[in-house]
Amino acid sequence: MTFHSAPAPATPHLGPVLFTAEQIRVRVDALADEIARDYGPGELAAVAVLKGSFIFLADLARRLSVRGIHLTIDFMSLSSYGAGTAPAGPVQVQPTPPLRATRGPVLLVDDILDTGLTLQTARELLSRNGITNLRTCVLLDKPARRRVPANADYVGFQVENVFVVGYGLDYNDAYRHLPYLAALVAGASRPDRGTA
Ligand code: XMP
Repeated sequence: MTFHSAPAPATPHLGPVLFTAEQIRVRVDALADEIARDYGPGELAAVAVLKGSFIFLADLARRLSVRGIHLTIDFMSLSSYGAGTAPAGPVQVQPTPPLRATRGPVLLVDDILDTGLTLQTARELLSRNGITNLRTCVLLDKPARRRVPANADYVGFQVENVFVVGYGLDYNDAYRHLPYLAALVAGASRPDRGTA
């Protein structure tokens, strides 16, 4: 089984598991520990990038809650991918509910830091909303494909240059439901929507 570097082949299918549900659980716990140590107990404003971050955010919010940090949650909808595995153009800002005004710190949550364009756009949007006290938390970091300088304060896992699905991340809206993270690979003859 070989990994394909992104962009993935035209008809990619579910490949090897990169991180199991248990590995993700342990890592999200550790991230919650780090965040709780840095911020201390209380309310913390989170802004999550849709759609890929929704499962990560839900788990992180609950792990932070048991550590005394209660997230308020806003969403922004940004997309650089069409129906594929490579950025389709500039980051599109979809209609997003207005962000609540906050003078306090904000934690920006995304599924994966890849080229860096989404995080850069999100930072600019938040800064235009007067948010300057910002840290970023991503489940995955794929440094090999960075196009703009960007890094995250909290990173779940670093990944190689493969297209990743599962745990909220999708390919053409498939695979988001998987409890684990897997790579897409070539070779299978029919789409596998990953019910394993
Ligand atoms: P950029 O390139 O802007 O990427 O840093 C961030 C957004 O692109 C999507 N993305 C992926 N989605 N598997 C996915 O399911 C991947 O391997 C992948 N790489 C980038 C994702 O929406 C992310 O927020």
